[in-house]
Formats: sequence, C-alpha cells, structure tokens
Amino acid sequence: MRNETISIVGGCGHVGLPLGIVTAEAGYRTYLYDLNPSLVRLVNHKQMPHLEEEGPERLAAVIDSGELSATTDPTVLRDSSLILITIGTPVDEHLNPRLQDLIVALQGLREFLHSPEQLVVFRSTIAPGTLRVIGDQLQEWGCPVRVAYCPERIVQGKALTELKGLPQLVSGLDATAVARVKALFLALTDAEPIVLEPMEAELAKLFCNAWRYINFAISNQFYQIAEEAGANFGRIHEAAVSNYPRMKEFARAGLTAGPCLLKDTMQLASFSRNTFFLGHSAMLVNEGLPAFLLNQLRTALGGTLRGKTIGLLGMAFKPDNDDTRESLSFKIRKLLLNQGAQVLCHDPFVQHEYFPHIRFVGLDEAMATDGVVIGVPHSLYRHLKFAPEQVCIDVWNSVKP
Ligand SMILES: NC(=O)c1ccc[n+]([C@@H]2O[C@H](COP(=O)([O-])OP(=O)(O)OC[C@H]3O[C@@H](n4cnc5c(N)ncnc54)[C@H](O)[C@@H]3O)[C@@H](O)[C@H]2O)c1
Repeated sequence: MRNETISIVGGCGHVGLPLGIVTAEAGYRTYLYDLNPSLVRLVNHKQMPHLEEEGPERLAAVIDSGELSATTDPTVLRDSSLILITIGTPVDEHLNPRLQDLIVALQGLREFLHSPEQLVVFRSTIAPGTLRVIGDQLQEWGCPVRVAYCPERIVQGKALTELKGLPQLVSGLDATAVARVKALFLALTDAEPIVLEPMEAELAKLFCNAWRYINFAISNQFYQIAEEAGANFGRIHEAAVSNYPRMKEFARAGLTAGPCLLKDTMQLASFSRNTFFLGHSAMLVNEGLPAFLLNQLRTALGGTLRGKTIGLLGMAFKPDNDDTRESLSFKIRKLLLNQGAQVLCHDPFVQHEYFPHIRFVGLDEAMATDGVVIGVPHSLYRHLKFAPEQVCIDVWNSVKP
C-alpha cells in the first residue's frame, strides 16, 4: 500500500477504468470519480461496463482488495495527492476542440484542488496549448496544484495488457510536476517515460492518431481506385506486403472509425488553422467510403436498393469489441434506409437494448438477405459461407472462402 491516494476523474470510462485498475494493483488507493451513476454501480459490483482484455478478473481482484472503488462524489478528490483526468475531449459541430467542456468540468472541482502537494495529470487527449491554458485558469481560480500531461496511447480493449509495456510521454508545467508524473508512471509501467515539453507532448499524441488516420485513408483510397478499375484490392494488398518489409505499414482497407482518430485529426486541423490538408483529405476518403460501398452494392444488386433487404454484419467500430462510438456501420445503415432498403443488423458484442430503433436479428436471418455488407470483421464472420450468386460487400477482405 502506497501513501498516495489517486482520484480518476471520468474513472469509469474506457481510459479511466483500466488505468484505475492498474494504479490500484500498484498499491495506490484509487477512487474512480464519474458522473454516470450506472457505470459507478456496475464497477462497484465488479462488472466491466465495456469489453477489456483481462478486465473482469482484474477488476474483481482490486475491488475485493479494497484498493479500488467508484463514486459519483467529487469530495474524494480533496484528500487525493494525484488526480488523473480521463474525461472525453470531443470536437464540436465545427470540428474544433471543446476546450470549455474541460474548463467547466474543472470549475466544478476547483474547491478540491487546494494544495501544491496535489498533482493534476491530464490523461485525455488535449489540443495543443491546452495544458498552458488550463494551468493559467487554475492559477486564476487560486488553485495551487501542479499540472502534468501524459496522454493515453493504448489501443481500445487492450489497455490492461498494453499499459505495462508502452513508453509514456510525460510533460508538465514545472519541474516538480514532470518529476512526479514520471515517478507515477515508472511505478505502473516497465518502460522508461519520455519527457517532452507540453506542446511537444500534445502534438505527439495528435500526430500518433492523425498518422494512423491518414495511413488508413491511403488504403481506403487505393481500395476505391482498384475496385473502380475492376481489380481486387484485397489480392493486391496481400501481394504488395508479401515478404516486402518496406510495405509493412500498408494497412488493409476498412471502415475507419471510433471515438479518437477522426476527432484528433480534426483537433490538429483546427490547431493548424485548417491548413492540415492531409488530415482533411483523409477525412473525405474515410468518411466517403460508406457511400462508395453502397454504390458497389447497388450495382451488384442490379442498379437499385429500393425494396431490397440488406444484412449488415458488425455494428461496433472495431472487430471483437462492443464499442459502437462513431462506427461507420451506422452511417451505412442510414444511407441504405435513405435509398429505400430494409436493413437487418447483426452484432454479437453490441448490447441491442441500447439501440431500440435498430432491427437486430440472428446471423442466419441477416445472411438470408438480398445482399450482405461486412460492417466490421468480427472473427465470427471470417468463415461465413456465401453462395456464388450471393452479394457480399467486404471492404476488409475478411471473409475467407
Ligand atoms: N478510448 C480509447 O481507446 C482512448 C485511447 C487513447 C486516448 N483516449 C482519450 O481519452 C479520453 C477519454 O476517452 P474515453 O474513451 O475513456 O471516454 P469515455 O466516454 O469512455 O469515458 C469518459 C468518462 O468520463 C465521465 N465523465 C464525463 N464528464 C465527467 C466529469 N465532468 N466528471 C466526471 N466524470 C465525467 C463519463 O461518464 C465517462 O464514464 C479522450 O480524450 C480520448 O480521446 C481514448
């Protein structure tokens, strides 16, 4: 048991909860402070609100040991020397960062941020310059806390298994903040943290996500070029990467979605006064892919989707995961409905009761339709058998004959 107490703001979310499990395992008494009472209830009952590798057993162990608990009561922050911020940082309707959300959230907590012994660590992805703005704001409010940044870089669903090995990018507004955030993550991970200036750390995180988003867009554009030419992109991709190390970063085509990649690319675009042309082009390609796939489907079904029944397999944004945030399957469904088709959805991971307006059916029923679209390549779909005349749009090249 360590003598420092941690509070995680947004602690029942996808980033906060695994982080809290790890800090509790490392011997920090950890409170997960979250506005959402249903998530808090679930966590205190040892139930993971979302899929996370090793989540159920490791959550149960730290709740049983008394090192971790969740609460909707912010007063737990008062006696915490480490306060980790993991709330969402979305962009607004103009695709600009919603900095005010963060300020308002902190404003509600300012009475508990009372001592220079307290370190506030931002773990959420923030726009460049945000750490300084927040530091100034806290000072203006008379909160004497120290401020640091250590962006989360895990891949969703594997936080618990990845965190230990990933080097952390750490930064802070003064040397003490940097030393303390470094010490914290040294206690949680095996890799030596890398110290950066605040602006460098903020940009580094956005570069990671924008790079991935652009990389996927390259493959998605190549997919469209190949398919329009009547060539099979999946076969081209397999040939191009085969025993050719220089192409190892050449991604498969696929519906690029989720809560982070597009929004972080847009945070960077906003920061660069919308001169980040590669980022915007990537958005056009990735967000345009659903319409391209619909065209392929329409052509394959004789030129119209009106009156057709389409099976949409996979509503999550990534394979074998339950997270539907910003999933492009929902965009495909909407486009199909707009064109007069009926859509039968299937997803074994997604909790159907959250989507009462969507018609979920069993796999057999979704397959017995005029055409099938693979929204996300859950492993379950890999060995589906399609009759030769059956139409299946599989941008992922995931269904193996
Ligand atoms: N999900 C990922 O894999 C991932 C990876 C790296 C970075 N990030 C970044 O981490 C941040 C959080 O993402 P997430 O996916 O965990 O979001 P999330 O929506 O899963 O979790 C956020 C949690 O914060 C809670 N919350 C919101 N406002 C609050 C407030 N004012 N006080 C207390 N609790 C509050 C919500 O109830 C929710 O449980 C974002 O900046 C995101 O870009 C996410």
